[in-house]
Amino acid sequence: MPRTSPAGRIAALREDIRAHEERYYVQQDPSISDAEFDALVKELEALEAAHPDLVTPDSPTQRVAGRPAEGFVSVSHASPMLSLDNAYSEEELRAFDDRVRRGLAQPSGEPAESVTYVAELKIDGLSIALTYEDGRLRRGASRGDGVHGEEVTANVRTIRVIPLRLRDGPPGLMEVRGEVYLPRAAFLRMNEEREQADDPPFANPRNAAAGTMRNLDPRQVARRRLRAWMYQLVAASPGGPATHEATLEQLRAWGLPVEPHWRRCEGIDEVLAFCHEWADKRRHLDYDTDGVVIKVDNLAARDRLGATSKFPRWALAFKFPAEQATTRLLRIEVNVGRTGAVTPFAVLDPVRLAGSTIQLATLHNEQEIARKDIRAGDYVLVEKGGEVIPKIVMPILSRREPGVVPWVMPRSCPACGSPLHRPDDEVVWRCMNTSCPAKLRRGLIHYASRAAMNIEGLGESRVDLFLESGLIRDFADLYELEAARVAALTTVSIREGKTTERRFGMPSAVKLVGEIERSRQNDLPRLVYGLGIRHVGERAAMLLARAFGSMDRLCAASEQELQAVPDIGPTVAAAVRAWFEEPRNRELIERLRKAGVNLTSHTPAAAPPEAQPLAGQTFVLTGTLSTMTREEATEAIERLGGRVSGSVSRKTRYVVTGEEPGSKLEKARALGVETLDEAAFRQLIMGKR
Ligand code: IVH
Repeated sequence: MPRTSPAGRIAALREDIRAHEERYYVQQDPSISDAEFDALVKELEALEAAHPDLVTPDSPTQRVAGRPAEGFVSVSHASPMLSLDNAYSEEELRAFDDRVRRGLAQPSGEPAESVTYVAELKIDGLSIALTYEDGRLRRGASRGDGVHGEEVTANVRTIRVIPLRLRDGPPGLMEVRGEVYLPRAAFLRMNEEREQADDPPFANPRNAAAGTMRNLDPRQVARRRLRAWMYQLVAASPGGPATHEATLEQLRAWGLPVEPHWRRCEGIDEVLAFCHEWADKRRHLDYDTDGVVIKVDNLAARDRLGATSKFPRWALAFKFPAEQATTRLLRIEVNVGRTGAVTPFAVLDPVRLAGSTIQLATLHNEQEIARKDIRAGDYVLVEKGGEVIPKIVMPILSRREPGVVPWVMPRSCPACGSPLHRPDDEVVWRCMNTSCPAKLRRGLIHYASRAAMNIEGLGESRVDLFLESGLIRDFADLYELEAARVAALTTVSIREGKTTERRFGMPSAVKLVGEIERSRQNDLPRLVYGLGIRHVGERAAMLLARAFGSMDRLCAASEQELQAVPDIGPTVAAAVRAWFEEPRNRELIERLRKAGVNLTSHTPAAAPPEAQPLAGQTFVLTGTLSTMTREEATEAIERLGGRVSGSVSRKTRYVVTGEEPGSKLEKARALGVETLDEAAFRQLIMGKR
């Protein structure tokens, strides 16, 4: 085998490494392991160290230049980096298509029949312009104001998807443009590191990418794992591609990264289909996209259409509904919930977010506001996640004006003025006044809600109307409502400055009173849930109603009996007990009874607590029982109020041992838990023990 010279080996290694980098970063289809790749780089580094005269700037080892720069140098772009006009609806997209077709009118003056477009995902990153000379990366520049940008070559060189040398690159100067971005996974990792280092986290991958590109130390930039997608070829020499499709293929052939989901579309309908398809699918990508860019495919047609001073007339950005937006936080107010929890929320300058205009955002609690240092008067970044109500990600500290002061939680209830109370181990302040009007209002809305008493037609505005007119003061008053009186109520609404007064009217009143009437017969779990007892959700209400069978038995249950119900823990038990201890609440139950509201469960109760001798006791079964199956043993234990668990702990009351018991027996012995053999267990469940 002929021995290769160091120069030959270096050239071969560089070629190999470039090809692997492209497979890995651009095609995302590596053909060797990371370790094998690292071995190639190490070998090249060693050879270059031994032969410094053979080091060239386009070597894959030379991505990170030595020292941080002093600052960025301003450079002018060969041609302005234009922005894109935006569209938010199908109509606007169709209007764009009409303009393009008219702009490309046939000699007869008729608009062009159908235009071929290319639809691409709009990457939410930073635009970048790369200049290659004879196929070698010479310069990277940020967009800046579109005419002048910053020279960021040292940072761009660290982005591994960007080739330092193009495959079969063209001679002479050539510029490509595209978007630099930070993959979501890298963003999350970066923010974790920042939090650990007590640095403020970045709000989103775009800001993180922007912050990274502005870093003057390329060594740090290299650690951030930025990526890029290229989509434009500027100043192509004559004989270059004639269409955008051919351009993208050319970029790929040179080894540049091109976002793979672009599609050639015949006419605007196919573009619309692409936009619809990606509105959801984009969530599965590892990078943020904020829309679709629609571009006329034919480059000669683009020249005919031209550009305004800001936008090309041949392209348009169709924006997906934004999931984050910036707006001003006008003031912080507090809301009193049905359990008395007083929660702060933000009143915002209205802003478009995820397809609707939002004006309110949750602020959770006092601690959360202090932690994020959110203040009235701040500009804030709001985000719509899975929840209905948007949340505030962070204040934009750089836009904070003088005189904007930290928020102070009120110490008295905004509705009734009672002092608020917060146990030491909790974050929520509460109004403890049982007749607080704000609590009553929320309580009524909850009582009527679908999962509770399901009184259709009794929503917030009608609850307000009945409370304001003095017709109701508690849940039981609902059942006294007379259709005639309700019909006579008037509602006033102010919309767009116009005040309209409307009578409730007889048909609506009759319907509502009928709904309230029907709710009297609801099953007990709905009523228990509707009472709004703290910690008692739908499931706990169901368990309690089924276990006790009637409101009276539930009311009489001790904390211990409540806890004996499977899946009811000490918190729920204590809250239920406390609720029934309150004389006003017991009065309410009496008034509901008088109003004819059903207070018993439609399904018979499980064994009453007094017939549950194993209440509160946990059993663990091990080994095989000879006279019953495991299921039968479990059923017997549960019928008597006990529970069966899969593992032994100090809280286990008995370990029941069958034949060939497993390690659970040893554990029981080690923990000193009492064991029962089969005979003793049978005696116990038959009540003979
Ligand atoms: S084409 C003159 N294509 O969006 C047309 N831009 O809002 C140049 N962007 O400044 C842009 N993805 O930074 C184009 N596939 C894509 C894009 C894209 C993201 C950015 C670009 C541009 C901004 C305009």
